[in-house]
Amino acid sequence: GVPLRDLAADHGIRIGAAANPYLLEKNREYRSLLGEQYGSLTAENVMKWDTVQPERGVYDFSHADALVDFAEKNGQKMRGHTLLWHNQNPEWLSDGDFGPDELRSIMHDHIRTVVGGHFKGRMYAWDVINEPFRDNGGELRRNLWLRTLGEGYIADALRTAHAADPDARLYINDFSIEGRNAKSDALYALAESLLEQGVPLHGIGFQSHLSVGDVPGDMVENMRRFTDLGLEVTITELDISIDMPAREAELRAQADDYRTVVRNCLKVSRCTGVTVWGVGDADSWIPSWFPGQGAALPFDQDYSPKLAFGALQEEL
Ligand code: XIL
Repeated sequence: GVPLRDLAADHGIRIGAAANPYLLEKNREYRSLLGEQYGSLTAENVMKWDTVQPERGVYDFSHADALVDFAEKNGQKMRGHTLLWHNQNPEWLSDGDFGPDELRSIMHDHIRTVVGGHFKGRMYAWDVINEPFRDNGGELRRNLWLRTLGEGYIADALRTAHAADPDARLYINDFSIEGRNAKSDALYALAESLLEQGVPLHGIGFQSHLSVGDVPGDMVENMRRFTDLGLEVTITELDISIDMPAREAELRAQADDYRTVVRNCLKVSRCTGVTVWGVGDADSWIPSWFPGQGAALPFDQDYSPKLAFGALQEEL
Protein backbone atom coordinates (compact mmCIF):
# COMPACT_ATOMS: atom_id res chain seq x y z
CA GLY A 1 0.00 0.00 0.00
CA VAL A 2 0.87 3.67 -0.13
CA PRO A 3 3.03 4.65 2.88
CA LEU A 4 1.27 6.52 5.69
CA ARG A 5 3.66 9.44 5.26
CA ASP A 6 2.50 10.01 1.68
CA LEU A 7 -1.17 9.62 2.55
CA ALA A 8 -0.72 12.12 5.37
CA ALA A 9 1.14 14.57 3.14
CA ASP A 10 -1.85 14.64 0.79
CA HIS A 11 -3.89 16.00 3.72
CA GLY A 12 -1.21 18.51 4.62
CA ILE A 13 -0.32 16.75 7.88
CA ARG A 14 2.62 14.64 9.04
CA ILE A 15 2.51 11.19 10.52
CA GLY A 16 5.47 10.49 12.76
CA ALA A 17 6.93 8.00 15.19
CA ALA A 18 9.16 8.06 18.26
CA ALA A 19 12.44 6.34 17.54
CA ASN A 20 15.55 4.89 19.17
CA PRO A 21 18.90 4.78 17.37
CA TYR A 22 19.95 1.53 19.06
CA LEU A 23 16.89 -0.26 17.64
CA LEU A 24 17.65 1.13 14.20
CA GLU A 25 20.95 -0.67 14.32
CA LYS A 26 19.65 -3.87 15.76
CA ASN A 27 16.35 -4.55 14.01
CA ARG A 28 15.75 -4.53 10.25
CA GLU A 29 11.95 -4.60 10.35
CA TYR A 30 11.93 -1.68 12.75
CA ARG A 31 14.35 0.22 10.56
CA SER A 32 12.45 -0.25 7.35
CA LEU A 33 9.03 0.52 8.82
CA LEU A 34 10.36 3.66 10.44
CA GLY A 35 11.97 4.85 7.21
CA GLU A 36 9.10 3.92 4.92
CA GLN A 37 5.96 4.78 6.83
CA TYR A 38 6.73 7.92 8.82
CA GLY A 39 7.45 11.46 7.67
CA SER A 40 8.54 12.80 11.04
CA LEU A 41 10.64 11.38 13.87
CA THR A 42 10.87 12.21 17.55
CA ALA A 43 13.73 10.94 19.70
CA GLU A 44 12.06 8.69 22.26
CA ASN A 45 14.94 9.23 24.72
CA VAL A 46 18.21 10.40 23.22
CA MET A 47 17.59 14.16 23.27
CA LYS A 48 16.77 14.20 26.98
CA TRP A 49 19.21 15.76 29.45
CA ASP A 50 20.61 12.50 30.84
CA THR A 51 21.80 11.54 27.34
CA VAL A 52 22.75 14.96 25.99
CA GLN A 53 24.45 16.51 29.03
CA PRO A 54 25.41 13.56 31.27
CA GLU A 55 28.02 15.65 33.13
CA ARG A 56 27.78 19.33 33.72
CA GLY A 57 29.06 21.16 30.65
CA VAL A 58 29.85 17.88 28.84
CA TYR A 59 27.56 17.36 25.88
CA ASP A 60 27.13 14.10 23.98
CA PHE A 61 25.18 14.32 20.74
CA SER A 62 26.38 11.05 19.24
CA HIS A 63 23.12 9.13 19.87
CA ALA A 64 20.88 11.97 18.78
CA ASP A 65 22.97 12.54 15.68
CA ALA A 66 22.58 8.92 14.62
CA LEU A 67 18.83 9.48 14.56
CA VAL A 68 19.00 12.84 12.83
CA ASP A 69 21.25 11.35 10.14
CA PHE A 70 18.74 8.54 9.56
CA ALA A 71 15.91 11.09 9.31
CA GLU A 72 17.80 13.25 6.85
CA LYS A 73 18.66 10.23 4.68
CA ASN A 74 15.01 9.27 4.60
CA GLY A 75 13.67 12.75 3.93
CA GLN A 76 12.04 12.92 7.35
CA LYS A 77 11.53 15.97 9.55
CA MET A 78 12.44 15.91 13.23
CA ARG A 79 10.64 17.12 16.34
CA GLY A 80 13.05 17.89 19.17
CA HIS A 81 12.10 16.26 22.49
CA THR A 82 12.62 17.67 25.08
CA LEU A 83 14.22 20.66 26.83
CA LEU A 84 12.72 21.05 30.32
CA TRP A 85 11.16 18.10 32.09
CA HIS A 86 11.07 16.52 35.56
CA ASN A 87 12.26 13.09 34.39
CA GLN A 88 15.41 11.67 32.82
CA ASN A 89 17.60 14.42 34.19
CA PRO A 90 21.19 13.52 35.11
CA GLU A 91 21.93 13.30 38.84
CA TRP A 92 24.23 16.30 38.80
CA LEU A 93 21.19 18.35 37.79
CA SER A 94 18.38 16.75 39.79
CA ASP A 95 20.42 16.51 43.01
CA GLY A 96 22.42 19.68 42.41
CA ASP A 97 20.51 21.95 44.78
CA PHE A 98 21.41 25.02 42.72
CA GLY A 99 20.29 28.52 43.55
CA PRO A 100 18.22 30.51 41.05
CA ASP A 101 21.06 32.32 39.30
CA GLU A 102 23.08 29.18 38.79
CA LEU A 103 20.12 27.07 37.68
CA ARG A 104 19.02 29.77 35.26
CA SER A 105 22.45 29.86 33.68
CA ILE A 106 22.53 26.04 33.46
CA MET A 107 19.16 26.16 31.69
CA HIS A 108 20.26 28.91 29.28
CA ASP A 109 23.49 27.10 28.48
CA HIS A 110 21.65 23.85 27.75
CA ILE A 111 19.04 25.44 25.51
CA ARG A 112 21.56 27.56 23.63
CA THR A 113 23.93 24.64 23.11
CA VAL A 114 21.28 22.12 22.07
CA VAL A 115 18.78 24.24 20.12
CA GLY A 116 21.16 26.86 18.75
CA GLY A 117 24.67 25.46 18.79
CA HIS A 118 24.01 21.89 17.74
CA PHE A 119 20.59 21.34 16.13
CA LYS A 120 19.83 24.75 14.69
CA GLY A 121 17.75 24.43 11.52
CA ARG A 122 17.40 20.65 11.91
CA MET A 123 14.40 20.48 14.26
CA TYR A 124 11.13 21.81 12.85
CA ALA A 125 9.65 21.90 16.34
CA TRP A 126 10.81 21.58 19.94
CA ASP A 127 8.95 20.37 22.99
CA VAL A 128 10.46 23.16 25.07
CA ILE A 129 8.35 22.48 28.14
CA ASN A 130 7.32 18.91 28.87
CA GLU A 131 4.59 17.95 31.36
CA PRO A 132 4.52 21.26 33.28
CA PHE A 133 1.28 20.33 35.04
CA ARG A 134 0.71 17.76 37.77
CA ASP A 135 -0.58 14.36 36.68
CA ASN A 136 -4.16 15.39 37.48
CA GLY A 137 -5.73 18.77 38.00
CA GLY A 138 -4.69 22.29 37.18
CA GLU A 139 -1.63 22.95 39.33
CA LEU A 140 1.81 23.47 37.89
CA ARG A 141 4.09 20.58 38.71
CA ARG A 142 6.61 21.39 41.44
CA ASN A 143 9.56 20.22 39.33
CA LEU A 144 13.11 21.45 39.83
CA TRP A 145 12.53 24.40 37.51
CA LEU A 146 9.42 25.66 39.26
CA ARG A 147 10.83 25.12 42.74
CA THR A 148 13.90 27.22 42.08
CA LEU A 149 12.89 29.68 39.36
CA GLY A 150 9.14 30.07 39.85
CA GLU A 151 6.66 29.93 37.00
CA GLY A 152 8.68 32.43 34.97
CA TYR A 153 10.86 29.48 33.94
CA ILE A 154 8.36 28.70 31.19
CA ALA A 155 8.51 32.09 29.45
CA ASP A 156 12.26 32.26 29.97
CA ALA A 157 12.84 28.86 28.33
CA LEU A 158 10.60 29.71 25.37
CA ARG A 159 12.35 33.04 24.80
CA THR A 160 15.78 31.44 25.06
CA ALA A 161 14.84 28.68 22.60
CA HIS A 162 13.37 31.18 20.16
CA ALA A 163 16.54 33.28 20.20
CA ALA A 164 18.59 30.11 19.64
CA ASP A 165 16.58 28.91 16.61
CA PRO A 166 14.00 31.41 15.36
CA ASP A 167 12.63 28.93 12.78
CA ALA A 168 11.69 26.17 15.21
CA ARG A 169 8.07 25.89 16.32
CA LEU A 170 8.05 25.95 20.12
CA TYR A 171 5.69 23.73 22.08
CA ILE A 172 4.35 22.97 25.51
CA ASN A 173 3.63 19.23 25.60
CA ASP A 174 1.55 17.35 28.17
CA PHE A 175 -0.70 14.33 28.81
CA SER A 176 -4.32 13.98 29.94
CA ILE A 177 -5.13 17.28 28.21
CA GLU A 178 -6.85 15.74 25.18
CA GLY A 179 -10.34 16.51 26.47
CA ARG A 180 -11.66 19.47 28.43
CA ASN A 181 -10.80 19.08 32.08
CA ALA A 182 -9.13 20.99 34.92
CA LYS A 183 -5.68 20.28 33.50
CA SER A 184 -6.41 21.42 29.94
CA ASP A 185 -8.28 24.46 31.31
CA ALA A 186 -5.17 25.44 33.27
CA LEU A 187 -2.98 24.91 30.22
CA TYR A 188 -5.35 27.04 28.18
CA ALA A 189 -5.09 29.86 30.73
CA LEU A 190 -1.30 29.55 30.75
CA ALA A 191 -1.09 29.61 26.93
CA GLU A 192 -3.37 32.64 26.75
CA SER A 193 -1.29 34.55 29.28
CA LEU A 194 2.02 33.66 27.60
CA LEU A 195 0.68 34.88 24.25
CA GLU A 196 -0.58 38.10 25.84
CA GLN A 197 2.95 38.73 27.12
CA GLY A 198 4.34 38.15 23.64
CA VAL A 199 6.16 34.97 24.61
CA PRO A 200 7.14 32.84 21.57
CA LEU A 201 4.81 29.88 22.09
CA HIS A 202 3.65 28.33 18.81
CA GLY A 203 1.98 25.07 19.63
CA ILE A 204 0.49 22.64 22.09
CA GLY A 205 1.45 18.97 22.04
CA PHE A 206 -1.31 16.58 23.06
CA GLN A 207 0.66 13.49 24.04
CA SER A 208 -2.40 11.22 23.84
CA HIS A 209 -1.24 8.22 25.84
CA LEU A 210 -4.74 6.77 25.79
CA SER A 211 -6.45 3.57 26.90
CA VAL A 212 -8.71 1.76 24.49
CA GLY A 213 -12.25 3.16 24.58
CA ASP A 214 -11.13 6.41 26.20
CA VAL A 215 -10.70 8.89 23.36
CA PRO A 216 -12.38 12.00 24.83
CA GLY A 217 -15.57 12.93 22.99
CA ASP A 218 -14.70 16.62 23.17
CA MET A 219 -11.17 16.31 21.76
CA VAL A 220 -11.86 18.32 18.59
CA GLU A 221 -13.59 21.09 20.51
CA ASN A 222 -10.74 21.15 23.02
CA MET A 223 -8.03 21.35 20.33
CA ARG A 224 -9.98 24.09 18.56
CA ARG A 225 -9.98 26.39 21.55
CA PHE A 226 -6.17 26.31 21.41
CA THR A 227 -6.04 26.91 17.66
CA ASP A 228 -8.50 29.79 18.18
CA LEU A 229 -5.73 31.41 20.24
CA GLY A 230 -3.58 31.31 17.10
CA LEU A 231 -1.61 28.22 18.15
CA GLU A 232 -1.01 25.05 16.19
CA VAL A 233 -1.66 21.68 17.80
CA THR A 234 -0.02 18.29 17.31
CA ILE A 235 -0.75 14.79 18.60
CA THR A 236 2.76 14.08 19.82
CA GLU A 237 2.94 10.68 21.57
CA LEU A 238 -0.07 8.62 20.56
CA ASP A 239 -0.46 5.10 21.86
CA ILE A 240 -3.63 3.26 22.85
CA SER A 241 -3.08 0.62 25.48
CA ILE A 242 -5.06 -2.51 26.17
CA ASP A 243 -5.42 -4.59 29.35
CA MET A 244 -3.47 -7.71 28.46
CA PRO A 245 -4.05 -10.18 26.97
CA ALA A 246 -5.42 -8.27 23.97
CA ARG A 247 -8.31 -10.05 22.28
CA GLU A 248 -9.81 -9.53 18.85
CA ALA A 249 -12.56 -7.27 20.22
CA GLU A 250 -10.06 -4.96 21.90
CA LEU A 251 -7.84 -4.82 18.83
CA ARG A 252 -10.88 -3.80 16.79
CA ALA A 253 -11.84 -1.14 19.29
CA GLN A 254 -8.25 0.07 19.28
CA ALA A 255 -8.29 0.39 15.49
CA ASP A 256 -11.46 2.52 15.80
CA ASP A 257 -9.72 4.71 18.37
CA TYR A 258 -6.67 5.23 16.14
CA ARG A 259 -9.04 6.15 13.34
CA THR A 260 -10.87 8.62 15.58
CA VAL A 261 -7.69 10.35 16.74
CA VAL A 262 -6.43 10.84 13.17
CA ARG A 263 -9.85 12.03 12.07
CA ASN A 264 -9.89 14.49 14.96
CA CYS A 265 -6.59 15.94 13.82
CA LEU A 266 -7.88 16.22 10.26
CA LYS A 267 -10.95 18.10 11.54
CA VAL A 268 -8.83 20.79 13.18
CA SER A 269 -7.33 23.05 10.55
CA ARG A 270 -4.14 23.83 12.48
CA CYS A 271 -3.46 20.31 13.67
CA THR A 272 -0.05 19.61 12.11
CA GLY A 273 -0.04 15.86 12.51
CA VAL A 274 0.07 12.73 14.59
CA THR A 275 3.14 11.03 16.06
CA VAL A 276 2.86 7.50 17.48
CA TRP A 277 5.06 6.66 20.48
CA GLY A 278 7.06 3.83 18.97
CA VAL A 279 6.76 1.55 15.97
CA GLY A 280 5.52 -1.78 17.26
CA ASP A 281 4.40 -3.44 20.48
CA ALA A 282 7.90 -4.90 20.77
CA ASP A 283 9.42 -1.46 21.38
CA SER A 284 6.58 0.27 23.24
CA TRP A 285 7.26 1.79 26.67
CA ILE A 286 3.78 0.81 27.93
CA PRO A 287 4.33 -2.73 29.32
CA SER A 288 7.31 -1.69 31.42
CA TRP A 289 5.68 1.48 32.77
CA PHE A 290 2.12 0.19 33.17
CA PRO A 291 2.32 -3.49 34.11
CA GLY A 292 -0.60 -5.50 32.75
CA GLN A 293 -1.14 -3.12 29.84
CA GLY A 294 0.30 -3.31 26.34
CA ALA A 295 -0.36 -3.90 22.65
CA ALA A 296 -0.59 -0.13 22.27
CA LEU A 297 0.90 0.50 18.81
CA PRO A 298 -0.11 -0.08 15.14
CA PHE A 299 2.42 -2.90 14.61
CA ASP A 300 2.72 -5.99 16.80
CA GLN A 301 5.54 -7.80 18.63
CA ASP A 302 6.91 -9.05 15.29
CA TYR A 303 6.33 -5.81 13.43
CA SER A 304 3.36 -7.19 11.51
CA PRO A 305 0.60 -4.65 10.89
CA LYS A 306 -2.37 -4.73 13.27
CA LEU A 307 -5.95 -3.63 12.60
CA ALA A 308 -4.88 -0.22 13.87
CA PHE A 309 -2.44 0.14 10.99
CA GLY A 310 -5.18 -0.64 8.46
CA ALA A 311 -7.38 1.94 10.17
CA LEU A 312 -4.68 4.58 9.79
CA GLN A 313 -4.26 3.74 6.11
CA GLU A 314 -8.00 3.99 5.52
CA GLU A 315 -8.50 7.17 7.46
CA LEU A 316 -5.62 9.01 5.80
C1 XIL B 1 9.28 7.58 27.80
C2 XIL B 1 10.05 6.62 26.92
O1 XIL B 1 9.16 6.09 25.98
C3 XIL B 1 10.67 5.52 27.75
O2 XIL B 1 11.52 4.71 26.95
C4 XIL B 1 11.46 6.11 28.91
O3 XIL B 1 11.93 5.06 29.74
C5 XIL B 1 10.59 7.06 29.71
O4 XIL B 1 10.08 8.06 28.86
N1 XIL B 1 5.92 11.38 28.18
C6 XIL B 1 7.01 11.85 27.47
C7 XIL B 1 8.00 10.89 26.93
O5 XIL B 1 7.08 13.06 27.19
O6 XIL B 1 9.29 11.44 26.88
C8 XIL B 1 7.99 9.60 27.69
O7 XIL B 1 8.86 8.68 27.03
C9 XIL B 1 6.59 9.05 27.82
C10 XIL B 1 5.71 10.01 28.56
